[in-house]
Amino acid sequence: MNNIDFDKYFKPDLTQARKRSKKQVEEVQFHMSEQAAQIGHGKTYKIDTYGCQGNEADSETMAGILELMGFTKTEHEENADVIIINTCAIRENAENRIWGELGRMKNYKRQNPNLILGLAGCMAQEENVVERVLKKYQHVDIVFGTHNIHKLQDYIQTAMFSKERVIEVFSREGEIVENLPKVRQHRFKAWVNIMFGCDEFCTYCIVPYTRGKERSRSKQEILDEVKQLVDEGYQEVTLLGQNVNAYGKDVVGNDYTFGDLLRDLDQTGINRIRFTTSHPHDLDQKTMEAMRDCKHVMPFFHLPVQSGSNQVLKKMNRHYTKDSYLKTLNELKETVPGISVTTDIIVGFPGETEEDFLETMDLVDQANFEGAFTFVFSKREGTPAAKFEDNTPEEIKKQRLYLLNEKINEGYLRGNQRFLGQTVKVLVDGVSKYDDTILAGYSEHNKLVNFKGDMSLIGHIVDVKITVAKTWFLLGEAV
Ligand code: 5AD
Ligand code: SF4
Repeated sequence: MNNIDFDKYFKPDLTQARKRSKKQVEEVQFHMSEQAAQIGHGKTYKIDTYGCQGNEADSETMAGILELMGFTKTEHEENADVIIINTCAIRENAENRIWGELGRMKNYKRQNPNLILGLAGCMAQEENVVERVLKKYQHVDIVFGTHNIHKLQDYIQTAMFSKERVIEVFSREGEIVENLPKVRQHRFKAWVNIMFGCDEFCTYCIVPYTRGKERSRSKQEILDEVKQLVDEGYQEVTLLGQNVNAYGKDVVGNDYTFGDLLRDLDQTGINRIRFTTSHPHDLDQKTMEAMRDCKHVMPFFHLPVQSGSNQVLKKMNRHYTKDSYLKTLNELKETVPGISVTTDIIVGFPGETEEDFLETMDLVDQANFEGAFTFVFSKREGTPAAKFEDNTPEEIKKQRLYLLNEKINEGYLRGNQRFLGQTVKVLVDGVSKYDDTILAGYSEHNKLVNFKGDMSLIGHIVDVKITVAKTWFLLGEAV
């Protein structure tokens, strides 16, 4: 254990990861060698995915690569030949769960020394994580980051044949890799990456370090992908990016931005277009008008506000104030009448006072959100906020979260109640988690709707008249 040669590995470097150049981003084509395409035959894989939709989409790519190599998917990790844990670094509790899982995997490795265990995703981009894996998690064979998923076949090959540990994490701005294989998780709903990375550098957030520079895929690649999904029978796409409202702004001399992309995607024949996630200061009139005019773009917007206090927003480096956020929100609601808006909020940011928190509560009252993801601030090593003075006791932060959630839940209920008596269009996902005679799906406004119906409706869009509105779901009858 003491004679590990730490320097032979490509380890992450947060100082490098922070750098941004003006260089035009390179487009790289994925390619798999004939040799790599043989080595998984007769073997199985399992991928465990944590975190955001970006990770869900990355796992679909990893599955695509593994299946091109001949591996087949298994749900039984005790028999798997390859297990990959695709990790999330956004908050400490997400990481703690993953450390627990990694520890548990030790048993599988003991039972099957040929098992290849891989750690991928955002945690792999963190310096302290890779050090800890090197020292204390020797049963992990492969560590690779978010910039080199397309090399997975090489890592598996090396781990399998040379029996060496492979640690390769690049802390660069990142390129765009096209022609990637994918095994999609859903038959009629698909993730479509439209951009990668983030250049916002909100002071609490690790994402700009783990995912690199903001870079947009070409319009043509995106349109082709969506057209192909239409041909394959997909009903809904969710466009993915850390800040989709900045689409195209990284390309020099380009004035084709997110609103233009929405208009073009609306013509592809796809029934439903959703997107996530957005930054308020990049949300422009062009996008709002495209949402108003495009009948396939769903009337739903997730617009993270993070805080209602100007002082806190400034320390977060969010580039807007409480009033300017509310102004943008009102413009959005005026341009797209009836739109449902949800948000993200962090309480207990370093230095947040009772007054700051009350500003957030007031903003929530004024904004009329119909849902929110709410969090207690989590210190992320390497981010500026990790060094900010933080005197608020944990108990007070938890209490703020509790009070905020009560208010947010009222918003969920109000948001559902406005559909009572109306007929809404539901894309049926499957049977309800609690009762398999009941179908479940989402309305255009992204409300969960349950109704009695035949399983043959799964994957179809059905008109449902709403009869009951609860906080977390609507009940209705097919019409
Ligand atoms: N602590 C708490 N919440 C965070 N988020 C991002 N970083 C942190 C952090 N360090 C939240 C933000 C973001 C969402 C994806 O996660 O609200 O919008
Ligand atoms: Fe993180 Fe801010 Fe970028 Fe969102 S916009 S990923 S919160 S840095």
